[in-house]
This record gives sequence, structure tokens and C-alpha cells, in this order.
Amino acid sequence: MAGRLGESTMGDVLRWGAGGSVNFAGGFPDERLFPMWHVQEAMEAVLTRHGPQALQYGSAQGAEWVREAVAGHLERRGVLTSPETVLLTSGGQQAIDLVARLYVDPGDVVVTTSPTYFAALELFEAAGAEIVTVPLDERGLDLDRLDAALGDPRAKVCYLITDHQNPTGISLPAEQRPLIADLLRRHACHLIEDDVFGDIAFEPPAPPIQRWAPDRVSYVTSFSKGLSPGLRAGVLAAPADVIGKALALRENTDVCPNTLTHAVMGELLHSGAYHRLLPRLCARYRTRRDALLAALDRHLSGRAHWTTARGGFFTWVTLDAPADVEELLRTAARSGVVFLPGARFRRGEKNGGERAELRLSCARLDPAEIEEGIGRLAGLL
Ligand SMILES: Cc1ncc(COP(=O)(O)O)c(C=O)c1O
Repeated sequence: MAGRLGESTMGDVLRWGAGGSVNFAGGFPDERLFPMWHVQEAMEAVLTRHGPQALQYGSAQGAEWVREAVAGHLERRGVLTSPETVLLTSGGQQAIDLVARLYVDPGDVVVTTSPTYFAALELFEAAGAEIVTVPLDERGLDLDRLDAALGDPRAKVCYLITDHQNPTGISLPAEQRPLIADLLRRHACHLIEDDVFGDIAFEPPAPPIQRWAPDRVSYVTSFSKGLSPGLRAGVLAAPADVIGKALALRENTDVCPNTLTHAVMGELLHSGAYHRLLPRLCARYRTRRDALLAALDRHLSGRAHWTTARGGFFTWVTLDAPADVEELLRTAARSGVVFLPGARFRRGEKNGGERAELRLSCARLDPAEIEEGIGRLAGLL
């Protein structure tokens, strides 16, 4: 059975991180790359310019000037939007949750890829949804299977991570994006398009699916990977009726976004600092991805194959021979290297747990640690 990546596994990830292991498991950004000085400067600018209002309750949708800055950022990314159809959320996770609460009732089907981001799976399952999956590989989605899955009258919502996917690192091919938009329209299905890794790009990504079906897509992103997850600066860009209903839900949960940290994010967008910092950040993550690919080549060539991510943090490794990956993890942890078993990102598939797949994140590792970790792992296979 596919394992669940609940609190206990997140606990494992944190413990492993503290234990001196070479940690390929966590999906956290590297805190050594957080723009401390820029955040401090932006915080001072916000407090000076807005005074005590910066610490007051704010608009439930998010301050208008911040939404304007965010809409400009999304337009650069290729999203069709305006400040009126942007809702500032507590991370991308809250945006996904709000749309799921609007669209998913018990017994509904949520269509997604296999594999996909575990916390979204858990959120849809908690809403009582049945998860139906469509295979994903480096060629993209199986569009015939997607068509069939969306054809189920119970399928109201589809959830896709278009670029630098968690857990595989895969980006959907540019040519599939308008075709997916056509399928959404044909089957009257709503897409939650998760783009939280969109800004961590090693080459320019294609525009998101939202561009071809803005009336059918709730586009989700955040500044958790490009800036800092602690700011909890997330974004929902969606049709006006979805924003209106999501706003009502959010007012009942956390009243309004964190006015101070969202203002800091807005200031970094407004001043241009975010876009000036991003290329250097992406170059650092790219160096780590390259080091991981080189280490895999050196140590596992002929014994495994893996994805080449065009951005984000993740590489998906499939061992050529069958293996008990949970057992491999236990052995590896004793040898000082940890990763996440791929089966934890799969649902609703027979044999999902028997595939020999590993998710590796190199986001917080230096090239020398990556080489050391992959060498240790290869020694166990
Ligand atoms: C695919 C995906 N979506 C959403 C999130 C949640 O992001 P945030 O920290 O902005 O809530 C994550 C976090 O790692 C993620 O990997």
C-alpha cells in the first residue's frame, strides 16, 4: 500500500535534518540563501511608510498596493489577472485549501497526477474526495487518460503542478498546456494550478495553463521558495466569483492576510529587489541540481534513471531493479543519508508501493555533500 506522508514523516524529515545526515528528504528552501538584509530593509521601509497601520488588521483580500505588485509579477509569469482577481493567502497551501473547500464535496472525484504533492492529496482526501490519477512522466500527461478521468461526472476539480513538479521535477510540455485547457472547458472542470516552484526556474518556463482558460483555473503560487516560507506570502488568482467566495471563507478562518509580512513581500516586488535577486538564487539551485545529476551519473549510471528538472528542488530517481524502498530508507538512514520513498506521493494505484522510486531534494546541500550522499546511497544498492 502506498505510504502516507503525514505528520510522522514530516517529523522524520525534521529529525533527520537535525541529525547530521545528508538530507535529500526535505523540500525546504536553503535558509542560507534567504535575503536577510533585503527583508530587513523592506520591513523598515514598510514600518516607516505605513506607520502603525502596518501592524493593524487589513483588507481580507490583501492590501490593494500589494495586490497591484503581485498582479504585475503574475503578468510577467504569463498569468492573465488583475489586482481585483488576486487574493493574498497564508502560503500556497491556504489557497489550495480555500478552493478545495469551495469545490470539493464528499464523494466528488479529484483528478490529479501520479505522483503528486502529498499535502494536496491529504487535503482533498480530508474533504471526502476520491482521488483519480493520471500518469505523469517526462513526456508530460497521458492526455487520453486525462480526458477519460475528467469525463466522470463526479470529477469537479483537477489539481496539477505545471512546472518543476513536487515530487518529480517535471514541467508539463508547452504544447500540452492549451490542450489541457480545452479538456477543462469540454468537461466543465475546474483546475487548481499549483505553481509554487514556478519562480525557481533554470530556463524560462512556458506560460501556465491558466493563460488558456482563465475562467476555469484557480492559479496558486507563493513566495515561499523564492523569498522565504516563514513570510507565508501566498497568492490565489482566480475568476471573480471564486475570489468572492474564497474571500468569505477566509474571513471566517484567519480574518485577513498577515499584513506585515505581505507588505514586506509587496515592498520587495515594488522596489524590483525580488526580480533582481531571483536570477542569482536560481543559479545557486541550478548548481546543486547539476551536482546531483553529475553524482547520479557517476554512481548510479546503468542501475537507475532519473528526471532532469528545469527548475525547483526535486529529482525523481527510479531504480532499474525492484527494491523495497522503505527498507532501503531505513538502511540508508543508519548510513547517514535520507530521502523520501516515491510511493508516498502516489494514491489510488495498484502496486504504487512496489515501484522502486526515490524523491531527492538537493536544495539545502552543497555539491560536496551531494557527492558524499549519493556515493553512500549507491553503496547500499
Ligand atoms: C507543490 C507544493 N504546493 C504547495 C506548497 C505549499 O507552499 P506554501 O509554503 O507556500 O504554503 C508546497 C510546499 O512545499 C508544495 O511543494
